[in-house]
Amino acid sequence: MDPCGAELDEAGLPPGYAPCFQSLPFYLDFARFGPPSRNVAECHASSLRNLASDPSAVDALAPVAARTEALAAALTGRSSADHVVLVPNTSSGLFQLAFALQGGAILVSPQEFPANVYPWVQAARRGGPAVCWLTPPDGRVTPEAVAAALRPEITALAVSAVDFRTGYRADLAALRDILGERLLLVDAIQAFGVVDLPWHLADAVVTGGQKWLRAGWGSGFLSLSSRALDRLGGSLSGWSGAVAADRFDGLLHEPERSAARFRMTNPDLAAVAALETSLQLFASAGPARIERAVATRIDALLDVISACGARTLLPLSPRERAGIIPLVLPDRDPKIVGSALRDAGLTISIREDHVRLSPHATTPFEAVERLAAVLRALAPPRHLRHVSSATPS
Ligand SMILES: Cc1ncc(COP(=O)(O)O)c(C=O)c1O
Repeated sequence: MDPCGAELDEAGLPPGYAPCFQSLPFYLDFARFGPPSRNVAECHASSLRNLASDPSAVDALAPVAARTEALAAALTGRSSADHVVLVPNTSSGLFQLAFALQGGAILVSPQEFPANVYPWVQAARRGGPAVCWLTPPDGRVTPEAVAAALRPEITALAVSAVDFRTGYRADLAALRDILGERLLLVDAIQAFGVVDLPWHLADAVVTGGQKWLRAGWGSGFLSLSSRALDRLGGSLSGWSGAVAADRFDGLLHEPERSAARFRMTNPDLAAVAALETSLQLFASAGPARIERAVATRIDALLDVISACGARTLLPLSPRERAGIIPLVLPDRDPKIVGSALRDAGLTISIREDHVRLSPHATTPFEAVERLAAVLRALAPPRHLRHVSSATPS
C-alpha cells in the first residue's frame, strides 16, 4: 500500500507492472539494452501485422505520433506537445541540437559517451559553435566543475543525466542555477525511465527508448524548453519539419516554430507505437516508484560488492547514482571477473577497467545472490566480510 492507498507489490510497484515483463532473473545490462515489455512486443508486432494486411492501417496508426509527443511532453514537464519532437534515437536528437545551436561555444566533457561528443565536433568543423572541453579530474560533470569552466563565450552545456561509465547522476537543479540563461542540453538515455529527475529544468532532454524505457529501438524524443525553442535555429529541418510540409512545389518552406522544426521525415510509426506503450507503462507505474525499486536493488548489489572487497569506479552517494554500477575487483582483470559472472549466468557488460552492472525495477534479488557467490569465489579471502542476506527487509 502506498501513502495514497494504492495496492503495491513487494517491489513497491503497482501489481500489474512486473507481469508485463518476461522473467529474466540474471539480466543486469539495462544500460546496454532494456528487454521490452510483453505489451511493447505485442504492440510492435500488431502494428506491423495491421500494416501488412489492412490498407487503412497507416492512417489509423498516424495519430500515435502526436499522442506520444504529448505524453513525452507531460513526462518532461513541458506545457504542450509543441515542445517535443520524435527522433529515431538519442544520437539524431543530439545532432539536431548541435546543428541548431547558433554561435558561441558548447561546454562538454570528452568523457561523455561518444554520441554526446561527435555531434558537437562535427558541427564545430562546419562552422557551428566551438567546442570547449570540460575535463574534471574524475570525469564527473559536477556543478563546481562547470562553474570553474564557464567563459563568456559558452552558450550551452551538453551533459548526460547519468554517465554511461561511472553511473554518476548529474545535479540538474544545480547545473541550471549555474548556467543561468545558457542552455542545459541533456542526454537522458541512461536516466529517463530509471530516475525521476526535474526534466523541466533542462532546455533539451533527448533519449531513445531502447534502454531503461524498454521500448525497443527506432524511437525516442527530444523535449525542448521555451528558451531552447527561442534560441535554437533549425538547420537540419527536413521537408516534414516545414510549415507547408504537404506542398510539393520544389521550394524549401519555412521551418515550423515548434519542436516539429527538427523533423527530418516521418517517423517509424510501429516504433513510435511501441514507445507510446512503454511511456504509458512507465507513467502508470510511477517514475518515483521505479526509481525507488531500482535504488533498493542497487543498494543490495553495493552491499555485496563492498562485503566482497570489491568497489565501484567512483564512490557515489545515493543522490549521485542511478541504475549503473561500474564494478572493480582489486587485483582482478575485469575480463576474468566479467567472464566468471557470465559463466554464472549473469548478463553484464565487460569494459576495459570495470564490469558494468545495471539492474531494473523488475530485477529479482536472486541476481544479487548470484553476484555474491561469484565475487566470493573470486575475491582474495582477506577481503571477504559477512553479508547476512541479499534481500532487503
Ligand atoms: C549516454 C549515452 N548516450 C547516447 C547513447 C547512444 O544512444 P542512441 O543509440 O540512442 O543514439 C548511449 C548508448 O549507450 C549512451 O550510453
